[in-house]
Amino acid sequence: MKVTIVGAGNVGATCADVISYRGIASEVVLLDIKEGFAEGKAMDIMQCATTTGFNTRVSGSTNDYSKTANSDVVVITSGIPRKPGMTREELIGINAGIVKTVADNVLKFSPDAIIVVVSNPMDTMTYLTLKATGLPKNRIIGMGGALDSSRFKYYLSQALAKPSNDVQGMVIGGHGDTTMIPLTRLASYNGSPVSNFLSQEVLDKVAADTMVGGATLTGLLGTSAWYAPGASVAYLVDSILNDQKKMIPCSVFLEGEYGQSDICLGVPCIIGKNGIEEIVDIQLNDAEKALFAKSADAVRAMNGDLKA
Ligand code: NAI
Repeated sequence: MKVTIVGAGNVGATCADVISYRGIASEVVLLDIKEGFAEGKAMDIMQCATTTGFNTRVSGSTNDYSKTANSDVVVITSGIPRKPGMTREELIGINAGIVKTVADNVLKFSPDAIIVVVSNPMDTMTYLTLKATGLPKNRIIGMGGALDSSRFKYYLSQALAKPSNDVQGMVIGGHGDTTMIPLTRLASYNGSPVSNFLSQEVLDKVAADTMVGGATLTGLLGTSAWYAPGASVAYLVDSILNDQKKMIPCSVFLEGEYGQSDICLGVPCIIGKNGIEEIVDIQLNDAEKALFAKSADAVRAMNGDLKA
């Protein structure tokens, strides 16, 4: 099983690292536009093989897409971060150009690949990839909900003072500070609603911390995070390649589901060898439905910047 990761930066290289040491794929190709960068990252990861004990073959390429041929999954992490003074529209314009070119190039060599979009603004980039490639919706998956949900479970576990692995929780909606929706009502600890253990005030704080989870890390690190993002992509890729049919919130093209159409937004999906196997319809209450509609409005406005 072969995975290509375009963008050998912080998130892309971390994803390659997790995929290899967990043996998720037999081959990983890292590709970057920066001369020698992907080759260097690949070599560094390969030099872990004997100490961490893995057999995945990791290689790097500077913009030579022929090396990516016959990939089962292609992950797009290429893009630039927003720089001081840059408007949202400018960022969207630059990253849209990068993502579109990358998607065209990878499909020339891997026409059957499932594409996982990570570059921000992720919901808009996922929508652009779907529209630009014309691929069926099951093959274009935006990664954001897996990361936001892992942050949600982290904050819940901190509040509960219990291990994260015993906590269940999901974040849906847009992948942005103001658009994501941590579903506190449905979160659980060892099968019991977290509201049995935590007050509404604490749950509200958990939700608020989750929503600014990325910004908190950017404040601490001076750049956006990579360990949890890279691991979240690997988790999604594992479910695809190994047909695990895990339920993972992903940004997917909606055609009436959750009351929305012509938009990519985070909803729970069953992820398997065909990519999006199924969109799971969870019953939202009226307040959650209203938040979802508001989130869709904000993402739709951003998609509008794309067209401008
Ligand atoms: P980074 O700057 O470390 O890496 C980006 C890499 O893309 C660089 O090495 C750059 O040379 C490469 N690149 C730029 N244009 C390219 C092109 N045309 N072809 C090939 N490679 C190209 O950034 P980082 O931290 O890895 O983040 C990557 C993207 O992922 C950003 O857009 C970031 O906002 C986004 N992100 C998304 C998350 C999500 O949950 N969806 C979470 C974290 C980051």
